[in-house]
Amino acid sequence: MSIAFNQDNLKGFVEKKDFAKILPQIQKAHELLESKSGPGKEFLGWMDLPSRISDGFIHDLQQLAKEIQESSDALISIGVGGSYLGIRSTVEFVGGKEKLPIYYAGHNISADYLYNLLESLKDKRVTVVMISKSGTTTEPAIAFRVVKEFLQKKYKELELKKRILCVSDGKKGALKRIVDKMGYRSFVIPDDVGGRFSVLTPVGLVPLAMAGVDIKGMVEGARKAQAEYSKIDFGKNAAYQYAAARYLLYKKGKMIEVLSSFYPNMFYIAEWWKQLFGESEGKNGKGIFPASLILSTDLHSMGQLMQDGQRNLFETFLMIDKAEHQVLIPKEEEDLDGFNCVAGKDLDFVNKQAYRATAMAHREGRVPNMTISVCQADSFHAGQLYYFFEKAVAVSGYLLGVNPFDQPGVEAYKTKMFKLLGKS
Ligand code: PA5
Repeated sequence: MSIAFNQDNLKGFVEKKDFAKILPQIQKAHELLESKSGPGKEFLGWMDLPSRISDGFIHDLQQLAKEIQESSDALISIGVGGSYLGIRSTVEFVGGKEKLPIYYAGHNISADYLYNLLESLKDKRVTVVMISKSGTTTEPAIAFRVVKEFLQKKYKELELKKRILCVSDGKKGALKRIVDKMGYRSFVIPDDVGGRFSVLTPVGLVPLAMAGVDIKGMVEGARKAQAEYSKIDFGKNAAYQYAAARYLLYKKGKMIEVLSSFYPNMFYIAEWWKQLFGESEGKNGKGIFPASLILSTDLHSMGQLMQDGQRNLFETFLMIDKAEHQVLIPKEEEDLDGFNCVAGKDLDFVNKQAYRATAMAHREGRVPNMTISVCQADSFHAGQLYYFFEKAVAVSGYLLGVNPFDQPGVEAYKTKMFKLLGKS
Protein backbone atom coordinates (compact mmCIF):
# COMPACT_ATOMS: atom_id res chain seq x y z
CA MET A 1 0.00 0.00 0.00
CA SER A 2 3.05 2.25 0.22
CA ILE A 3 4.53 4.19 -2.66
CA ALA A 4 7.43 2.22 -4.13
CA PHE A 5 10.52 4.11 -5.25
CA ASN A 6 13.09 2.45 -7.48
CA GLN A 7 16.33 4.16 -8.38
CA ASP A 8 18.29 1.25 -9.93
CA ASN A 9 18.56 3.12 -13.22
CA LEU A 10 20.50 5.95 -11.59
CA LYS A 11 23.56 3.69 -11.36
CA GLY A 12 26.42 5.14 -13.33
CA PHE A 13 25.01 8.65 -12.88
CA VAL A 14 24.51 9.01 -9.13
CA GLU A 15 26.20 6.63 -6.72
CA LYS A 16 25.65 5.63 -3.09
CA LYS A 17 28.59 7.78 -2.01
CA ASP A 18 26.91 10.85 -3.60
CA PHE A 19 23.84 10.26 -1.47
CA ALA A 20 26.00 9.76 1.61
CA LYS A 21 27.67 13.12 1.04
CA ILE A 22 24.43 15.07 1.08
CA LEU A 23 22.86 13.29 4.06
CA PRO A 24 23.75 16.20 6.39
CA GLN A 25 21.92 18.58 4.02
CA ILE A 26 18.85 16.33 4.04
CA GLN A 27 19.01 16.18 7.82
CA LYS A 28 19.20 19.98 7.92
CA ALA A 29 16.22 20.37 5.57
CA HIS A 30 14.26 17.89 7.70
CA GLU A 31 15.04 19.85 10.85
CA LEU A 32 14.12 23.18 9.28
CA LEU A 33 10.76 21.73 8.27
CA GLU A 34 10.05 19.99 11.56
CA SER A 35 11.06 23.00 13.67
CA LYS A 36 9.24 25.33 11.25
CA SER A 37 12.24 27.62 11.16
CA GLY A 38 13.28 27.62 7.49
CA PRO A 39 12.42 30.01 4.66
CA GLY A 40 8.67 30.16 4.08
CA LYS A 41 8.00 28.84 7.60
CA GLU A 42 4.65 30.61 7.71
CA PHE A 43 3.38 28.31 4.92
CA LEU A 44 3.95 24.89 6.47
CA GLY A 45 0.32 24.18 7.31
CA TRP A 46 0.26 21.40 4.68
CA MET A 47 2.71 19.32 6.74
CA ASP A 48 0.26 18.08 9.37
CA LEU A 49 -2.87 18.93 7.40
CA PRO A 50 -3.95 15.29 6.76
CA SER A 51 -4.02 14.51 10.49
CA ARG A 52 -5.79 17.81 11.26
CA ILE A 53 -8.73 17.22 8.90
CA SER A 54 -11.54 16.06 11.14
CA ASP A 55 -13.76 13.13 10.25
CA GLY A 56 -16.67 15.39 11.19
CA PHE A 57 -15.74 17.85 8.46
CA ILE A 58 -15.54 15.05 5.89
CA HIS A 59 -18.93 13.76 7.03
CA ASP A 60 -20.51 17.24 6.79
CA LEU A 61 -19.15 17.67 3.27
CA GLN A 62 -20.53 14.30 2.26
CA GLN A 63 -23.95 15.22 3.65
CA LEU A 64 -23.95 18.50 1.72
CA ALA A 65 -22.83 16.57 -1.35
CA LYS A 66 -25.95 14.37 -1.19
CA GLU A 67 -28.14 17.48 -1.23
CA ILE A 68 -26.21 19.04 -4.13
CA GLN A 69 -26.13 15.81 -6.12
CA GLU A 70 -29.92 15.48 -5.79
CA SER A 71 -30.56 19.02 -6.97
CA SER A 72 -27.95 19.22 -9.76
CA ASP A 73 -26.94 17.62 -13.03
CA ALA A 74 -23.59 19.38 -13.27
CA LEU A 75 -20.97 21.04 -11.08
CA ILE A 76 -18.78 23.85 -12.35
CA SER A 77 -15.54 24.21 -10.43
CA ILE A 78 -14.06 27.68 -10.99
CA GLY A 79 -10.38 28.21 -10.20
CA VAL A 80 -6.87 28.23 -11.60
CA GLY A 81 -3.43 26.93 -10.59
CA GLY A 82 -3.54 25.53 -7.09
CA SER A 83 -7.28 26.18 -7.02
CA TYR A 84 -7.84 23.92 -10.05
CA LEU A 85 -5.15 21.35 -10.79
CA GLY A 86 -5.50 19.12 -7.72
CA ILE A 87 -9.24 18.83 -8.26
CA ARG A 88 -8.93 17.83 -11.87
CA SER A 89 -5.97 15.51 -11.26
CA THR A 90 -7.92 13.59 -8.60
CA VAL A 91 -11.08 13.31 -10.69
CA GLU A 92 -9.14 12.03 -13.71
CA PHE A 93 -6.83 9.76 -11.72
CA VAL A 94 -9.69 7.85 -10.09
CA GLY A 95 -11.22 7.35 -13.51
CA GLY A 96 -14.22 9.58 -13.94
CA LYS A 97 -16.28 7.93 -11.18
CA GLU A 98 -17.91 11.15 -10.06
CA LYS A 99 -21.60 11.01 -9.10
CA LEU A 100 -22.09 14.57 -10.31
CA PRO A 101 -20.27 15.41 -13.56
CA ILE A 102 -17.69 18.12 -12.92
CA TYR A 103 -16.71 20.83 -15.40
CA TYR A 104 -14.00 23.44 -15.06
CA ALA A 105 -13.95 27.18 -15.66
CA GLY A 106 -11.66 30.04 -14.76
CA HIS A 107 -8.47 28.18 -15.68
CA ASN A 108 -8.19 29.97 -19.02
CA ILE A 109 -9.54 33.16 -20.58
CA SER A 110 -10.83 31.63 -23.80
CA ALA A 111 -14.20 33.10 -24.79
CA ASP A 112 -15.03 30.07 -26.91
CA TYR A 113 -14.22 27.66 -24.08
CA LEU A 114 -16.59 29.38 -21.63
CA TYR A 115 -19.28 29.96 -24.25
CA ASN A 116 -19.29 26.31 -25.29
CA LEU A 117 -19.26 25.10 -21.68
CA LEU A 118 -22.27 27.20 -20.70
CA GLU A 119 -24.08 26.33 -23.95
CA SER A 120 -23.66 22.65 -23.14
CA LEU A 121 -25.08 23.20 -19.64
CA LYS A 122 -27.97 25.52 -20.50
CA ASP A 123 -30.65 22.87 -19.96
CA LYS A 124 -28.97 21.32 -16.92
CA ARG A 125 -29.39 22.01 -13.21
CA VAL A 126 -26.06 23.57 -12.29
CA THR A 127 -24.20 24.18 -9.01
CA VAL A 128 -20.98 26.19 -8.85
CA VAL A 129 -17.96 26.08 -6.58
CA MET A 130 -15.91 29.26 -6.85
CA ILE A 131 -12.39 28.82 -5.47
CA SER A 132 -9.83 31.57 -5.01
CA LYS A 133 -7.65 32.29 -2.03
CA SER A 134 -6.79 35.82 -3.05
CA GLY A 135 -10.13 36.37 -4.74
CA THR A 136 -8.38 38.72 -7.13
CA THR A 137 -7.12 36.23 -9.71
CA THR A 138 -8.31 37.44 -13.11
CA GLU A 139 -9.28 34.15 -14.74
CA PRO A 140 -11.60 32.77 -12.03
CA ALA A 141 -12.94 36.22 -11.02
CA ILE A 142 -14.13 36.97 -14.56
CA ALA A 143 -15.41 33.43 -15.12
CA PHE A 144 -17.41 33.75 -11.86
CA ARG A 145 -19.08 36.92 -13.15
CA VAL A 146 -20.08 35.19 -16.38
CA VAL A 147 -21.25 32.01 -14.64
CA LYS A 148 -23.26 34.02 -12.07
CA GLU A 149 -25.04 35.82 -14.89
CA PHE A 150 -25.76 32.43 -16.49
CA LEU A 151 -27.25 31.19 -13.19
CA GLN A 152 -29.22 34.40 -12.64
CA LYS A 153 -31.04 33.71 -15.89
CA LYS A 154 -31.99 30.24 -14.65
CA TYR A 155 -32.76 30.74 -10.96
CA LYS A 156 -34.49 33.15 -8.59
CA GLU A 157 -32.43 34.74 -5.81
CA LEU A 158 -33.01 32.14 -3.09
CA GLU A 159 -32.34 29.17 -5.34
CA LEU A 160 -29.34 30.95 -6.86
CA LYS A 161 -27.77 31.32 -3.42
CA LYS A 162 -28.10 27.60 -2.77
CA ARG A 163 -26.26 26.89 -5.99
CA ILE A 164 -23.14 28.91 -5.26
CA LEU A 165 -20.46 27.62 -2.89
CA CYS A 166 -17.29 29.60 -2.31
CA VAL A 167 -13.86 28.60 -1.06
CA SER A 168 -11.84 31.64 -0.04
CA ASP A 169 -9.52 33.22 2.48
CA GLY A 170 -11.13 33.52 5.91
CA LYS A 171 -10.42 37.19 6.48
CA LYS A 172 -9.39 39.11 3.40
CA GLY A 173 -9.66 39.31 -0.35
CA ALA A 174 -12.28 40.13 -2.94
CA LEU A 175 -14.01 36.75 -2.84
CA LYS A 176 -14.34 36.97 0.94
CA ARG A 177 -15.98 40.40 0.47
CA ILE A 178 -18.40 38.92 -2.08
CA VAL A 179 -19.23 36.03 0.29
CA ASP A 180 -19.92 38.42 3.18
CA LYS A 181 -22.11 40.68 1.03
CA MET A 182 -24.06 37.96 -0.76
CA GLY A 183 -24.27 35.36 2.01
CA TYR A 184 -23.07 32.46 -0.13
CA ARG A 185 -22.15 29.21 1.62
CA SER A 186 -18.42 29.36 2.12
CA PHE A 187 -15.36 27.41 3.23
CA VAL A 188 -12.04 28.76 4.40
CA ILE A 189 -8.57 28.06 3.02
CA PRO A 190 -6.10 28.01 5.93
CA ASP A 191 -3.68 30.96 5.97
CA ASP A 192 -0.64 28.73 6.31
CA VAL A 193 -1.25 26.62 3.19
CA GLY A 194 -0.18 27.99 -0.20
CA GLY A 195 -2.18 27.41 -3.39
CA ARG A 196 -0.14 24.54 -4.84
CA PHE A 197 -0.17 22.72 -1.48
CA SER A 198 -3.93 23.17 -0.99
CA VAL A 199 -5.47 20.06 -2.55
CA LEU A 200 -6.26 18.62 0.91
CA THR A 201 -7.87 21.86 2.14
CA PRO A 202 -11.46 22.86 1.20
CA VAL A 203 -9.94 23.91 -2.16
CA GLY A 204 -9.82 20.25 -3.16
CA LEU A 205 -12.15 18.63 -0.64
CA VAL A 206 -15.27 20.75 -1.33
CA PRO A 207 -15.57 20.29 -5.12
CA LEU A 208 -14.34 16.69 -4.95
CA ALA A 209 -16.89 15.82 -2.27
CA MET A 210 -19.69 17.53 -4.22
CA ALA A 211 -18.72 15.52 -7.30
CA GLY A 212 -18.89 12.34 -5.22
CA VAL A 213 -15.19 11.50 -5.17
CA ASP A 214 -14.11 9.49 -2.12
CA ILE A 215 -12.45 12.28 -0.11
CA LYS A 216 -12.28 10.07 3.00
CA GLY A 217 -10.01 7.66 1.13
CA MET A 218 -7.93 10.55 -0.18
CA VAL A 219 -7.39 11.97 3.31
CA GLU A 220 -6.55 8.49 4.66
CA GLY A 221 -3.92 8.05 1.95
CA ALA A 222 -2.42 11.43 2.82
CA ARG A 223 -2.44 10.56 6.53
CA LYS A 224 -0.50 7.38 5.82
CA ALA A 225 1.98 9.37 3.76
CA GLN A 226 2.28 12.01 6.49
CA ALA A 227 3.30 9.30 8.99
CA GLU A 228 5.66 7.67 6.52
CA TYR A 229 7.45 10.72 5.16
CA SER A 230 7.96 12.43 8.50
CA LYS A 231 10.71 9.91 9.30
CA ILE A 232 14.22 11.24 9.25
CA ASP A 233 15.60 7.75 8.50
CA PHE A 234 16.75 8.36 4.90
CA GLY A 235 16.72 4.64 4.01
CA LYS A 236 13.02 4.47 4.89
CA ASN A 237 11.87 7.81 3.51
CA ALA A 238 11.18 7.55 -0.23
CA ALA A 239 10.21 11.23 -0.47
CA TYR A 240 13.64 12.24 0.81
CA GLN A 241 15.36 9.73 -1.49
CA TYR A 242 13.52 11.17 -4.48
CA ALA A 243 14.39 14.75 -3.43
CA ALA A 244 18.04 13.80 -2.96
CA ALA A 245 18.25 12.01 -6.32
CA ARG A 246 16.83 15.01 -8.19
CA TYR A 247 19.19 17.38 -6.45
CA LEU A 248 22.25 15.23 -7.24
CA LEU A 249 21.20 14.92 -10.88
CA TYR A 250 20.70 18.69 -11.07
CA LYS A 251 24.19 19.21 -9.67
CA LYS A 252 25.45 16.98 -12.47
CA GLY A 253 23.91 19.22 -15.12
CA LYS A 254 20.53 17.52 -15.54
CA MET A 255 18.34 20.61 -15.75
CA ILE A 256 15.08 19.03 -16.92
CA GLU A 257 12.99 16.39 -15.18
CA VAL A 258 10.53 14.54 -17.37
CA LEU A 259 7.69 12.88 -15.47
CA SER A 260 6.64 10.00 -17.71
CA SER A 261 3.56 7.95 -17.11
CA PHE A 262 2.12 5.05 -19.06
CA TYR A 263 -1.41 5.97 -17.98
CA PRO A 264 -3.51 8.75 -19.54
CA ASN A 265 -5.41 9.14 -16.26
CA MET A 266 -2.19 10.52 -14.78
CA PHE A 267 -2.01 13.42 -17.25
CA TYR A 268 -3.36 15.90 -14.70
CA ILE A 269 -1.34 14.40 -11.84
CA ALA A 270 1.65 15.45 -13.94
CA GLU A 271 0.12 18.91 -14.51
CA TRP A 272 -0.36 19.28 -10.73
CA TRP A 273 3.21 18.06 -10.16
CA LYS A 274 4.55 20.60 -12.71
CA GLN A 275 2.97 23.46 -10.79
CA LEU A 276 4.19 22.11 -7.46
CA PHE A 277 7.80 21.73 -8.54
CA GLY A 278 8.00 24.58 -11.04
CA GLU A 279 6.52 27.20 -8.74
CA SER A 280 8.36 25.93 -5.67
CA GLU A 281 11.84 25.63 -7.15
CA GLY A 282 12.07 27.99 -10.10
CA LYS A 283 13.52 31.10 -8.48
CA ASN A 284 16.75 33.02 -7.97
CA GLY A 285 18.05 31.65 -11.29
CA LYS A 286 17.70 28.07 -10.01
CA GLY A 287 15.34 25.16 -10.50
CA ILE A 288 14.79 21.96 -12.44
CA PHE A 289 12.40 22.46 -15.37
CA PRO A 290 9.48 20.06 -14.85
CA ALA A 291 8.14 18.50 -18.06
CA SER A 292 5.83 15.55 -18.60
CA LEU A 293 4.99 12.86 -21.12
CA ILE A 294 2.22 10.32 -21.47
CA LEU A 295 3.63 7.09 -22.83
CA SER A 296 3.54 5.10 -24.92
CA THR A 297 1.71 7.84 -26.91
CA ASP A 298 4.57 10.35 -26.65
CA LEU A 299 7.22 7.74 -27.47
CA HIS A 300 5.96 8.21 -31.01
CA SER A 301 6.54 11.95 -30.89
CA MET A 302 9.11 12.75 -28.20
CA GLY A 303 10.81 9.35 -28.11
CA GLN A 304 13.61 10.44 -30.43
CA LEU A 305 14.55 13.43 -28.27
CA MET A 306 14.34 11.40 -25.09
CA GLN A 307 16.60 8.71 -26.52
CA ASP A 308 19.08 10.79 -28.41
CA GLY A 309 18.69 14.53 -27.89
CA GLN A 310 20.63 16.85 -25.62
CA ARG A 311 21.62 14.91 -22.48
CA ASN A 312 20.48 17.53 -19.99
CA LEU A 313 17.50 15.60 -18.66
CA PHE A 314 16.48 12.85 -16.32
CA GLU A 315 13.23 10.95 -16.17
CA THR A 316 10.87 9.88 -13.42
CA PHE A 317 8.37 7.19 -14.32
CA LEU A 318 5.04 7.24 -12.54
CA MET A 319 3.53 3.76 -12.56
CA ILE A 320 0.38 1.99 -11.37
CA ASP A 321 0.88 -1.65 -10.35
CA LYS A 322 -2.60 -2.90 -11.04
CA ALA A 323 -4.93 -1.83 -13.84
CA GLU A 324 -8.57 -1.71 -12.78
CA HIS A 325 -9.82 -3.65 -15.78
CA GLN A 326 -8.52 -6.61 -17.71
CA VAL A 327 -8.38 -6.40 -21.50
CA LEU A 328 -7.33 -9.71 -22.99
CA ILE A 329 -5.66 -9.69 -26.38
CA PRO A 330 -7.47 -12.02 -28.79
CA LYS A 331 -5.74 -14.80 -30.68
CA GLU A 332 -6.21 -14.73 -34.45
CA GLU A 333 -6.22 -17.80 -36.65
CA GLU A 334 -3.89 -16.28 -39.20
CA ASP A 335 -1.20 -14.38 -37.33
CA LEU A 336 -1.02 -11.70 -40.03
CA ASP A 337 0.28 -8.91 -37.74
CA GLY A 338 2.61 -11.27 -35.82
CA PHE A 339 1.08 -10.45 -32.45
CA ASN A 340 -0.13 -13.92 -31.49
CA CYS A 341 2.95 -13.83 -29.22
CA VAL A 342 0.83 -11.82 -26.77
CA ALA A 343 -2.52 -13.48 -27.46
CA GLY A 344 -4.30 -14.30 -24.22
CA LYS A 345 -2.23 -11.74 -22.31
CA ASP A 346 -3.67 -8.73 -20.55
CA LEU A 347 -3.06 -5.36 -22.24
CA ASP A 348 -1.58 -4.11 -18.96
CA PHE A 349 1.18 -6.74 -19.33
CA VAL A 350 2.18 -5.17 -22.66
CA ASN A 351 2.06 -1.69 -21.09
CA LYS A 352 4.41 -2.84 -18.32
CA GLN A 353 6.80 -4.37 -20.84
CA ALA A 354 6.76 -1.08 -22.76
CA TYR A 355 7.73 0.67 -19.51
CA ARG A 356 10.59 -1.77 -18.82
CA ALA A 357 11.86 -1.44 -22.38
CA THR A 358 11.68 2.38 -22.23
CA ALA A 359 13.45 2.61 -18.87
CA MET A 360 16.28 0.38 -20.16
CA ALA A 361 16.57 2.14 -23.52
CA HIS A 362 16.59 5.61 -21.96
CA ARG A 363 19.22 4.58 -19.44
CA GLU A 364 21.35 3.26 -22.30
CA GLY A 365 20.70 6.57 -24.03
CA ARG A 366 22.19 8.25 -20.95
CA VAL A 367 18.93 9.43 -19.43
CA PRO A 368 19.12 8.46 -15.75
CA ASN A 369 15.71 7.39 -14.55
CA MET A 370 13.82 6.37 -11.46
CA THR A 371 10.33 5.01 -10.86
CA ILE A 372 7.59 5.93 -8.43
CA SER A 373 4.78 3.35 -8.29
CA VAL A 374 1.42 3.17 -6.58
CA CYS A 375 -0.66 -0.01 -6.23
CA GLN A 376 -3.77 1.28 -7.95
CA ALA A 377 -5.50 4.41 -9.21
CA ASP A 378 -7.88 5.32 -6.39
CA SER A 379 -8.40 8.28 -4.06
CA PHE A 380 -6.28 6.71 -1.31
CA HIS A 381 -3.26 6.63 -3.60
CA ALA A 382 -4.00 10.10 -4.96
CA GLY A 383 -3.77 11.41 -1.37
CA GLN A 384 -0.59 9.46 -0.79
CA LEU A 385 1.02 10.80 -3.97
CA TYR A 386 0.10 14.41 -3.19
CA TYR A 387 1.71 14.27 0.22
CA PHE A 388 4.75 12.37 -1.09
CA PHE A 389 5.46 15.05 -3.69
CA GLU A 390 4.73 17.93 -1.28
CA LYS A 391 7.26 16.58 1.21
CA ALA A 392 9.77 15.90 -1.56
CA VAL A 393 9.53 19.41 -3.02
CA ALA A 394 9.92 21.01 0.41
CA VAL A 395 13.20 19.17 0.98
CA SER A 396 14.26 19.60 -2.62
CA GLY A 397 13.71 23.37 -2.40
CA TYR A 398 15.78 23.64 0.76
CA LEU A 399 18.56 21.57 -0.84
CA LEU A 400 18.55 23.99 -3.77
CA GLY A 401 18.71 26.94 -1.39
CA VAL A 402 15.38 28.53 -2.33
CA ASN A 403 12.19 29.27 -0.42
CA PRO A 404 9.89 26.55 -1.80
CA PHE A 405 6.76 28.22 -0.45
CA ASP A 406 6.63 31.59 -2.18
CA GLN A 407 6.00 32.55 -5.81
CA PRO A 408 7.07 36.17 -6.33
CA GLY A 409 7.62 35.56 -10.06
CA VAL A 410 3.97 34.97 -10.89
CA GLU A 411 3.11 38.58 -10.05
CA ALA A 412 5.14 40.09 -12.92
CA TYR A 413 2.69 39.36 -15.74
CA LYS A 414 -0.30 40.22 -13.53
CA THR A 415 0.97 43.75 -12.87
CA LYS A 416 1.41 44.33 -16.58
CA MET A 417 -1.94 42.79 -17.49
CA PHE A 418 -3.82 44.83 -14.85
CA LYS A 419 -2.24 47.94 -16.35
CA LEU A 420 -3.40 46.93 -19.84
CA LEU A 421 -6.88 46.18 -18.50
CA GLY A 422 -7.05 49.49 -16.62
CA LYS A 423 -7.54 47.68 -13.29
CA SER A 424 -6.44 49.61 -10.24
O1 PA5 B 1 0.22 28.26 -6.05
C1 PA5 B 1 -0.33 29.34 -6.14
O2 PA5 B 1 -0.31 30.17 -5.21
C2 PA5 B 1 -1.07 29.75 -7.39
O3 PA5 B 1 -1.00 28.82 -8.41
C3 PA5 B 1 -2.55 29.98 -7.07
O4 PA5 B 1 -3.08 28.78 -6.60
C4 PA5 B 1 -3.31 30.45 -8.30
O5 PA5 B 1 -2.71 31.60 -8.84
C5 PA5 B 1 -4.74 30.77 -7.90
O6 PA5 B 1 -4.75 31.72 -6.88
P1 PA5 B 1 -6.06 32.08 -6.10
O7 PA5 B 1 -6.53 30.86 -5.39
O8 PA5 B 1 -5.66 33.17 -5.17
O9 PA5 B 1 -7.06 32.54 -7.13
